[in-house]
Amino acid sequence: MDPSVARARLLEQHQGLRERLERVNGLVRQYASGEAVAEALGAAVAGVATAFDEHNAFEETLLTPMLAATDGFADVRIARMVGEHTEEHRAFSAFLASPLSEVATGWGDFAEEIAAHMEAEERTFLHPWVLRDDLVTADTSDG
Ligand SMILES: [Fe+2]
Ligand SMILES: [Fe+2]
Repeated sequence: MDPSVARARLLEQHQGLRERLERVNGLVRQYASGEAVAEALGAAVAGVATAFDEHNAFEETLLTPMLAATDGFADVRIARMVGEHTEEHRAFSAFLASPLSEVATGWGDFAEEIAAHMEAEERTFLHPWVLRDDLVTADTSDG
């Protein structure tokens, strides 16, 4: 898979996550004002957890070999990405597994953290200058 294709797919997943977060934001507001949306909120939160896990797994398997083919700073980027993912994944998963009332209370901060995480990635290892097709020598199938 070419870096540009991988990058597009990862950015698409980020967009999907942002839409899920937006949906939960709305449900959390309804939940907080006493509406009977607990079931829908629980399902939406579980959806975020699954999508986030899948995205992280894909991101790590895909990016590690590609970044390794880029430049001398690759090791630093990979170490940072893997470190952040492991750490943040643990924290995010623990939060998403807490009781629904606690998820609802902490949701605002959580959503901000995930958004910041994705924005940081897009500025660093998902930047087009990093994931450049011409820097990957392993896959030359399309020239
Ligand atoms: Fe990530
Ligand atoms: Fe990501």
